[in-house]
Amino acid sequence: MKKNLIPEKQISAEAACNYIKDGMIVGLGTGTSAEFAVRKLGKLVREGLSIRGIPTSNRTKKLAEAEGIPLIDFSESMFIDLTIDGADEIDGNLNMIKGGGAALLQEKIVASVSRKEIIVGSKTKMVDHLGSFPLPVEVVPFGWQVVFNQLESLNGNPDLRLNNGQPLLTDQGNYIVDCHFRKISNPKLLENQINMIPGVVENGLFINLCTKMILADGEKLIVKDRKIR
Ligand code: A5P
Repeated sequence: MKKNLIPEKQISAEAACNYIKDGMIVGLGTGTSAEFAVRKLGKLVREGLSIRGIPTSNRTKKLAEAEGIPLIDFSESMFIDLTIDGADEIDGNLNMIKGGGAALLQEKIVASVSRKEIIVGSKTKMVDHLGSFPLPVEVVPFGWQVVFNQLESLNGNPDLRLNNGQPLLTDQGNYIVDCHFRKISNPKLLENQINMIPGVVENGLFINLCTKMILADGEKLIVKDRKIR
């Protein structure tokens, strides 16, 4: 008989929840992998775990509220103990491309103040070089064509992300331009170059932000910690 397999994203997300302890402020990621963690944390909260969450998108906020996880914002705390989030690509140095779900801005703010950031998902997210997955760049609507032009000059082969034929709007009301660099040889340099363009709000290169990767290969976990350099 066919076995009812637990998705790899769920296995890794639930393994990451073992690192959440009573009293923690927890960053709640966005995407199908992170949602498994939010659901698991909701269950733990209903069983008595005391945490406060900071969500990385409106849809995660909605899910966390439905799960009964108490939420706060940065007026109550300037740091986060631990964030669990997903990634679109992650390389051997634990650098990442994120933002496939258009939540990169809040995800990056949350990651930047997280003492620990655990990335979960299936092993298919591991790459030798970042760049096969289109790199999302969040831009303000005013003058987006100017930014688009600059991204073309950087060989980004940009595409404006659409939703039902209209520019997709992020939670902050911005646009997303997806760039096809194919192979990013210097992610840190490219992150800075893109963010220097007037009109760019943020881009989906996450450098030195992930402290632990927990990906699932079937039921097996692939765990890697970032070397502090
Ligand atoms: C959201 O903007 C993204 O950064 C997600 O974390 C990323 O796309 C991973 O999503 P999945 O877990 O759904 O693959």
